[in-house]
Amino acid sequence: MSENKKLLRALAGETLPVPPVWMMRQAGRYLPEYRATRAKAGDFLTLCYTPDLAAEVTLQPIRRYDFDAAILFADILLIPDALGADLWFVTGEGPRLSTITTQADFDALKPANDIHDHLAPVYETLRILTKELPEETALIGFAGAPWTVATYMIAGRGTPDQAPAHALMRENTELFDALMDRLTKATISYLSMQIEAGAETVKLFDSWAGSLKGEAFEKYAVEPARRIISELKLKHPDVPVIAFPREAGDKYIGFAKRTGADCVALDNSVAAEWAAEHVQVDGCVQGNLASSHMVTGGQALIDETRAIVKAFSKGPHIFNLGHGITPDADPDNVQLMIDTIRT
Ligand code: CP3
Repeated sequence: MSENKKLLRALAGETLPVPPVWMMRQAGRYLPEYRATRAKAGDFLTLCYTPDLAAEVTLQPIRRYDFDAAILFADILLIPDALGADLWFVTGEGPRLSTITTQADFDALKPANDIHDHLAPVYETLRILTKELPEETALIGFAGAPWTVATYMIAGRGTPDQAPAHALMRENTELFDALMDRLTKATISYLSMQIEAGAETVKLFDSWAGSLKGEAFEKYAVEPARRIISELKLKHPDVPVIAFPREAGDKYIGFAKRTGADCVALDNSVAAEWAAEHVQVDGCVQGNLASSHMVTGGQALIDETRAIVKAFSKGPHIFNLGHGITPDADPDNVQLMIDTIRT
């Protein structure tokens, strides 16, 4: 591990006087330079699959803000795309996919290890980034967690309550489990390739973990994460994994221990003092400023940023938002957040 990468030091369990900082969706539509490159690419998927352009947008927030980490520019839905589902993005609405609701739909998907030709541009983006990033900037790879990706594949789009996925889980558990297994295997293989291409840590985004209750949380959030992390650790024992079971609430407690994650990312529905006491006791945490502060700014942003830094100051902490920055954010507020953390 490079001693001058603060993000990797925090992930290794070190308590730093000033926490490292990066932001979910830090390369995104709130930045004029992103919008320009995005326009040049034409559409979002072309941007994801064109290594020079994907590397360029990954670097834009690093040039502008000096974040401690860069996150690969890609999307969690590239896995379904690589497995053979149709995927497209409707501007202003979000992703659309061909649905997986029958055995025949599932049988048409490719095997889990047959995704790498399709995803080769992603690995190339990472290789470019290992050469272009400043020495002190860590490179983060990522994938969606199986449950979250499955919710999009089953519904064919984003859903407020993930009802179609819950329905399939209930009504055709065998098919649902087969899809989860395919996604788990594909994710292990994909993240492993990202690490080989230069990712120094990887993050598992389970954006819809909060809608899994009781035993379903165990079976479909904890267990796939545990399996993915343990398989990755066999091959890459020194590469830390960040898990983000968004809106897990009380179930954040013990999540790191039970899955083997080196760091748990927190959304902003949990109080920092509570999370310091109940989650950070087990190791590094990441989070958790509400992204709305990037829109509203001002003294409230400063006060809340300071409060989060203080609450997590006794253990390993990576400063981040509780969810992705939104397109209506003011780029100056990002600088204000960083200045508040570092001074
Ligand atoms: O964080 C980063 O900067 C890295 C790149 C990244 C993107 N998406 C780029 C993106 C990452 C890590 C993601 C993760 C992702 N994608 C998640 C999990 C995290 C979360 O936000 O909960 C999910 C659920 C997706 C699926 C997805 N991709 C949706 C629902 C949408 C449309 C909604 C939206 O915000 O526009 C996308 C599109 C997307 N992914 C954009 C970006 C920058 C905007 C597309 C554009 O430029 O038009």
